[in-house]
Amino acid sequence: MQQPFDYDSAFSRNIGWITETEQALLRTRRIAIAGLGGVGGSHLLTLTRLGIGRFNISDLDSFELANFNRQAGASLSQVGRPKVEVLSEMALDINPELQINAFPEGVNQENLDRFLEDVDLYVDGLDFFALQARRAVFAACAEKGIPAITAAPLGMGAALLNFLPGKMTFEEYFRLEGHSEDEQLLRFLLGLSPAMLQMPYLVDDSRVDLANHKGPSTPMACELCAGMAATHALKILLNRGNVPTAPRGVHLDAFRNKLSSTWRPGGNGNPIQRLGLKIARNRLSEKLTMSVERETLQRYETPIERILDLARWAPSGDNTQPWRFELVDDTRFIIHAHDTRDWCVYDLDGRASQTAVGALLETIAIAASGEGLAAAFSRREESPENNPVIEVTLSESSAPEPDPLLPYIRARVTQRRGFSTRALTGAQKKVLEASVGPGYRIVWLEGWQRKWQMARLLFRNARIRLTIPEAYEVHKRIIQWDAQFSEDRIPDQAVGLDPVALKLMKWAMQSWGRVQMLNRYFAGTWMPRVQLDLIPALRCGAHFAIVADKPVVEIDDYLAGGRALQRFWLTTTRLGLQFQAEMTPLIFSRYTAVSRKFTVEERAMKMATVLAAELVDLFGDDSVSCSVFMGRMGSGNAPFSRSVRRTISNLFLPRINLGRSLK
Ligand SMILES: Cc1cc2nc3c(=O)[nH]c(=O)nc-3n(C[C@H](O)[C@H](O)[C@H](O)COP(=O)(O)O)c2cc1C
Repeated sequence: MQQPFDYDSAFSRNIGWITETEQALLRTRRIAIAGLGGVGGSHLLTLTRLGIGRFNISDLDSFELANFNRQAGASLSQVGRPKVEVLSEMALDINPELQINAFPEGVNQENLDRFLEDVDLYVDGLDFFALQARRAVFAACAEKGIPAITAAPLGMGAALLNFLPGKMTFEEYFRLEGHSEDEQLLRFLLGLSPAMLQMPYLVDDSRVDLANHKGPSTPMACELCAGMAATHALKILLNRGNVPTAPRGVHLDAFRNKLSSTWRPGGNGNPIQRLGLKIARNRLSEKLTMSVERETLQRYETPIERILDLARWAPSGDNTQPWRFELVDDTRFIIHAHDTRDWCVYDLDGRASQTAVGALLETIAIAASGEGLAAAFSRREESPENNPVIEVTLSESSAPEPDPLLPYIRARVTQRRGFSTRALTGAQKKVLEASVGPGYRIVWLEGWQRKWQMARLLFRNARIRLTIPEAYEVHKRIIQWDAQFSEDRIPDQAVGLDPVALKLMKWAMQSWGRVQMLNRYFAGTWMPRVQLDLIPALRCGAHFAIVADKPVVEIDDYLAGGRALQRFWLTTTRLGLQFQAEMTPLIFSRYTAVSRKFTVEERAMKMATVLAAELVDLFGDDSVSCSVFMGRMGSGNAPFSRSVRRTISNLFLPRINLGRSLK
């Protein structure tokens, strides 16, 4: 049964924090909101619930998918509809007596007077980058004596500034006149929040894209903005207590549990602000030179494209992605794999690459299940072992549901820093042991004593890694310096070193001579070995080996092992655990097992023989001959820095990329 609307009942729960008389007053007030995006829509709905009776609202945009994370009103049923229309409906659904003047053409010089007619307060909801319109509206408010509020969503907090009649104006505070657009944006940002509380937790600054007018934004920040702005609206409209006015501002950060009240007499002309602007300018130009080229959001039309787009997230040693794809038709494609044995000491006989290709096959199978398809693989027997060719055929799947590991393909990642030392639970181990399927078992190393033994082994093994010229050549090739993300290598920030050690390593890696000098005279391997091997080996829940029932000898054994590995790794992600491979002791042990020389350094060869015996002591007799993978896991944070992937177009063989719409 529909209840008839009644203003007093609808907003009765406001009473107590405001009086009935004040509520009646709010009912008569008109607020103008320009922009109904991230903050504007929430402003409108919050102020409507506060009982404001009249609005002038403007926005010329319609809803699209990219609005979903934060904008009130953005939902599937509203995609393509004008924001003004959708939000008017939503507000009227809360208070059907609202008087709303809508400006679907947006706010501009022609309609500005009408937009601000009879307005008691202006609340800014304009896009961060719409500086010209914002300046015009604030200037008109100052001229007409209309108080104005701007609340900016910054990270997971909100920064608020009030501009009241007769006090410092928007232009006097921000001082934008006569500056380039980039400089104006910087001035606006730093003026909004001199405290910049959000900066320490910006994890991917390549997403701040001033040039293309894009920046990251959270729903929490938008809601906080609406809460803060409505509170100040109430205080201004009802004359309730002290309202901080520019050059005073407030920044509330929910992530850091911090509240900062700032005071910048002279606004951006203040010496502290000028210094801040200088630092910000430097950081910005640095960032522009460092920024990673990212694939733009891309929706693929065919199942094969979508499957490969997901499958390219399979892991590979040093992120080499030793595969390229050739499309045959709508249901078939070919994987042209290769290995890196000719330059990578860790790719003995191409086995690491083959394991990675196995992981790719499993990922393709899982991704195909999301399209209701099953994938069949057939390796061309005649293809050489270092360039295996695998045909993939997709057919309708009989499975009723997608593979439960499907959602974890994109989230799976390598974390090389420390985890929690909390032991895995019995239930977690059971799920993980089942994930590898028949033919494989998991050997666990747990408890302080075992972890310590493994840490010692890895520490000594790392000495081999860091003192042989063959590995130096590999490291030089596979580390991308000054990078948070890397499409075809490992970004230095994901290696696991602290910033000081990283700087030293970058310097040393310029030449083998420098590395040797550091190693010989300054115990140069100590710091990286402690940070990259010893500490992480102790800081985990468990080390593990995935061991096959029979020795792994042929390419097909490694492909199958790679498939088991990927199910295991994805399952750790599903369980919320972090994961790092620890493959080099196994690889060096294999070299000694087949009496193959991998380095010119005799000492390193001898050490590898000693460590191979220790590995067997730790993981069991068959661990060197039958293990397909070794690593560590435990609960912890996902890394901020990671290897990303080559774009799909880079993974297709050029000769068959016949004008297809793959970008
Ligand atoms: C066969 C194989 C061996 C690997 N060996 C190591 C290793 O010894 N140490 C390590 O930190 N990562 C190792 N990795 C992880 C890769 O470096 C990582 O998967 C790749 O850089 C992609 O990054 P992502 O896993 O974060 O997506 C290995 C991965 C594979 C598939």
